[in-house]
Amino acid sequence: MLSCAKGLVTVLAVGFLLPIASAAVFAQGNPPPSRGYYTKSQAAAGRAIFNQTCAICHGHHLQGGVGPALAGKEFLSVSQFQQITAEYFYHFMSTHMPLTDPGSLTKTQYLDLMAYFLATNGYASGPNELTANDEELKAIKIEPQQ
Ligand code: HEC
Repeated sequence: MLSCAKGLVTVLAVGFLLPIASAAVFAQGNPPPSRGYYTKSQAAAGRAIFNQTCAICHGHHLQGGVGPALAGKEFLSVSQFQQITAEYFYHFMSTHMPLTDPGSLTKTQYLDLMAYFLATNGYASGPNELTANDEELKAIKIEPQQ
């Protein structure tokens, strides 16, 4: 009986502490980017392409419309919970978007769009261009920025 109670306490403690521990990991966010994630000119070019090609469905502020939101607190929290990285969004948009003509833009245009997407979600710019390197894209977690 005693050991049974102990077991229960352990189960309760683990069930209670694990979410707290993982929340602490989640709350950390990306390491402060010393060199940023993309250049300002990439984001500016991405903005122009987005407004022309994507905003009709995703909204001019990426807030969503016919298509889902691609920015904002709720979007970032859900992405964080699902552990989504920039690599997923880059490949999704470059193969599925724009919905009416998937994959119709150039690689440079999709990278510019990613830069604008990161900029709108609060990621810092810097001297280095965002590239289509899968490992680097995977290292960019999509989550709320401090
Ligand atoms: C005609 C409307 C339309 C246009 C134009 C459009 N999208 Fe979408 N987009 C959607 C819809 C609807 C979905 C959800 C479909 C799905 O998940 O399969 C979506 C999904 C996405 C997603 C995935 C979101 C998520 O949370 O999984 C991304 C990223 C995206 N679009 C980016 C873009 C970009 C960048 C462009 C412009 C090049 C664009 N879209 C143009 C309608 C559109």
